[in-house]
Amino acid sequence: MSTPAFGLSKTKLSAESLAEFACDVRAGLRKPQKELHSKYLYDELGSALFEAITHLPEYGLTRADERLLCAHAAEIADLAGAPVSVIELGSGMGRKTRSILSALRPSNRELRYFPIDVSAEALARCERELADVADVHPRRQSYLDGLAGAAAERRPGEALLLLFLGSTIGNFERPCALEFLRDLRRWLKAGDALLVGADLVKDLGRMLVAYDDPTGVTAGFNLNLLGRINRELGANFELRNFEHLACWSERERRIEMHLRARSDQRVFIAACGLEVRFRAGETIWTESSHKFVPAEMFAMAAESGFQVEAQWVDQEWPFVESYWTAR
Ligand SMILES: C[S@@+](CC[C@H](N)C(=O)[O-])C[C@H]1O[C@@H](n2cnc3c(N)ncnc32)[C@H](O)[C@@H]1O
Repeated sequence: MSTPAFGLSKTKLSAESLAEFACDVRAGLRKPQKELHSKYLYDELGSALFEAITHLPEYGLTRADERLLCAHAAEIADLAGAPVSVIELGSGMGRKTRSILSALRPSNRELRYFPIDVSAEALARCERELADVADVHPRRQSYLDGLAGAAAERRPGEALLLLFLGSTIGNFERPCALEFLRDLRRWLKAGDALLVGADLVKDLGRMLVAYDDPTGVTAGFNLNLLGRINRELGANFELRNFEHLACWSERERRIEMHLRARSDQRVFIAACGLEVRFRAGETIWTESSHKFVPAEMFAMAAESGFQVEAQWVDQEWPFVESYWTAR
C-alpha cells in the first residue's frame, strides 16, 4: 500500500484550532460525565485507524454504504441531473464517493467536488484519489463552515448535491441531528439534494462487535484520542491505564463509546492548565452512534424542510441510503 506524504504544515492545527481544542477538552473533562468531542478522534493516526476499521469484517457499515452507492449510482445521477456540484460533509478519504462522481461525470463534464473534513490527511488522500473523476476542492473546515464556503462557489443555474454518508448523522444527539439538518437546508436552494446514509437498528451482537472488534482496532482508535491530547496539548495520560468500552443504550437507540479508567489516577493537561482526577471505573464518553429505522428518515426529512425522493436498504447489513430534495 502506498503511503501519502503528509507535510507537517498540512497536518498541524493552527494556533486558533489548538486553542479551541484545548478549550473543548477543558470543558468536556470538567463535566460530571466526562466527555470529549468525537471530531477530535480524527488526527493523522485516528484517520488511518478509522480507515482500518472500515476494512474490519465486523464493521459492516462501510461495505453496506458502498454496495448501495454502487448499485444506485445511475439513479442518483439521474435524480441529481446537470449541471450539479457535489459537496460532501465529513468525506474522509472519499472512497465510496467515486461511484457517484463517475455516474455524474458523463452529464457534468466539468464536475466539481468539495470534500469537507477536519482531517487534513483524509482530505489529502481524497484529493489525490478522486482527481481523475472530478475537479476536487478540499476544505479543511467543520461541516457548516465548509458548506457555507462551498455553497458560495455555486455557478449560475447549478444545483448542489450534498452527501452525508457513513451514518455520520448518527454521531449527533437526535434533537441536534434535526437542528443540523435544518442548518444544512438553510444553505440549499429548493431542488438541491441531500443524500444521507444511516445505519439501521439490528441484532445487538452485530452492533456491539462493530464497535468493539476482537482485533482491537476500534479500541486503538478510541485510545488514540488520549494520545492526541498528550501530543498536542502536553498531557500525561497513561494510555494503558484506560480501556475501550462500547455499550448499547436501548433508550437512546445508540452505541456509546467510552474510555474507562482502570484505576484511580490524576492527569495533567498543560495547554488547559488543568489537572483531572479519575476514579477507577469512571469513563470519558467519546462518541455516540445512533441507529435508525427507515420510517425515521421520512420524519426527519419532513421536519427539516426536505422531501424523500428515493430510499434504498441494504439486505446484508441493514443500512439505508436516503435521497432527499430541498422543498
Ligand atoms: C465516521 S467518519 C466517516 C467518513 C466517511 N464519510 C465514510 O463514510 O467512511 C466521519 C468523518 O467526518 C469527519 N468529521 C468529524 N466531525 C467533523 C466536523 N465537525 N466537521 C467536519 N468533519 C468532521 C472525520 O474527520 C471523518 O473523516
